[in-house]
Amino acid sequence: MSVLSGKELRIVGFLCNWCSYGGADTAGTARAAQPTDLRIIRVPCSGRVNPLFVLKALMNGADGVLVSGCHPRDCHYSAGNFYARRRLEILKEFLPIVGIDPARFEYTWVSASEGQRWKEVVTSFTERIHRLGPAPKWADVTPRYDMPFSAPENRLEPIRPLGCGANPSLPELRESIKKALAEGLEGVLGWKAGFDPLHVEPVFMQTPEEVDHLVWGPFNVHNLANFLPQYKGRRIGVVVKGCDSKGVIELLAEKLIDKDDVTIFGMGCNGTVDLNRVLEKLPEGASVEDVKCSGNTIRVTAGGQEYTVSMQDAAQDKCRQCTNPNAVLSDVFVGPRVTEPMPPADGRSGALRFLDELSLEERMGFWKGQMERCISCHACRSACPMCVCRDHCVSDARDPAWLTREDDVVQKLFFQLIHAQHLAGRCTGCGECQRACPMGIPVFALKQQFGRKIKQIFGYGAGMDVNGVPPLLAYQVEEPNIKEHELS
Ligand code: FES
Repeated sequence: MSVLSGKELRIVGFLCNWCSYGGADTAGTARAAQPTDLRIIRVPCSGRVNPLFVLKALMNGADGVLVSGCHPRDCHYSAGNFYARRRLEILKEFLPIVGIDPARFEYTWVSASEGQRWKEVVTSFTERIHRLGPAPKWADVTPRYDMPFSAPENRLEPIRPLGCGANPSLPELRESIKKALAEGLEGVLGWKAGFDPLHVEPVFMQTPEEVDHLVWGPFNVHNLANFLPQYKGRRIGVVVKGCDSKGVIELLAEKLIDKDDVTIFGMGCNGTVDLNRVLEKLPEGASVEDVKCSGNTIRVTAGGQEYTVSMQDAAQDKCRQCTNPNAVLSDVFVGPRVTEPMPPADGRSGALRFLDELSLEERMGFWKGQMERCISCHACRSACPMCVCRDHCVSDARDPAWLTREDDVVQKLFFQLIHAQHLAGRCTGCGECQRACPMGIPVFALKQQFGRKIKQIFGYGAGMDVNGVPPLLAYQVEEPNIKEHELS
């Protein structure tokens, strides 16, 4: 066939052993002429195809990737291809955000008797990849370093009033915690003052004296749900903001913690700050002597000078669009509830709006530039409440070795893709990955891309229902929002 005129491209095919591999065999036995670009990897079932296989191939030089399994309802393990369909559809929707043309990836179904269909599928896909040409190489892409969405004038308007004044209900919260400790809780996770007045740090309070040092305010940035799995089996409590409570709910939904063990204390949240936005107002290296908050104004005294920052400027991006300022689930809710705003019509973050406007090549350049700054500290992983297998993280595995230890943008971006893929349908949007990044890399956008596609296709938002099931851990025989991708 003419597409082979001269040059093959690198196309990787993951074929289910029972159907599509048999279909390819049938085509071969019938001596059906086919393109020879495809390199076939036989897998037991399409359900065995980890989306990371596809991502790894595309990140490392494949010009196209094809996955083929048994037709729906024909899987030899009954439901493998139903799970695969959801995962691969979401993956296809995700690829453009990192600059990969989604047309370079396809999944389809071919049975063992469909030699003719296999021929048509492989021919059609190969022709498509030849039309697209060789995949752009990361090494050839021009990096870009600009992040206009984080400039003060481009920050999104908050959808509700943000504030930073003292919460008059804090004494009542402390009393509730002391009472619970007296009644048998082993300890309660909260926040206490940190090394300077701008910082707070997580604390596991076990005595009334420690509870007296509990703080609440715009600097309580950490999501304490992150610590809960390590206390599994012990009766403890946790103080939550609205976004943190979604992390607790998702941990409960995934049975990673037990509700009988955890008492949830909540108060209404008026927003938290992005500390970098406060620090950028101060002279570099100035030591902070005092911080006073009232209304929506933060007054910082540093180096003997007072600096004023408004919550409007300093709030984290996630707080600007937050629709859950109160704990979604709590055993003890103290003080009045904050009025919950309507979801914004366009719920995209500034980073997603920016990325949406770029071409695929510009997006590759953006991530290349961002990953050049990554120092591989993996703070994003450590801060994530839903990254629960961090002691056995596949990115650290040596057998199989998913990543090298090279100081290389592809390796670093692939680490982020592993993280985002593992959080697909599970990320509650707390943004801790990005907050914890010492280099200010907008890695949260990758999780947001998965999140919005899962919302569009499955109508699911993580962290809202303890009985919820993440969509990629479930399936429907008929998927109303997933269309078959015709290749023949
Ligand atoms: Fe073929 Fe499951 S056995 S898709």
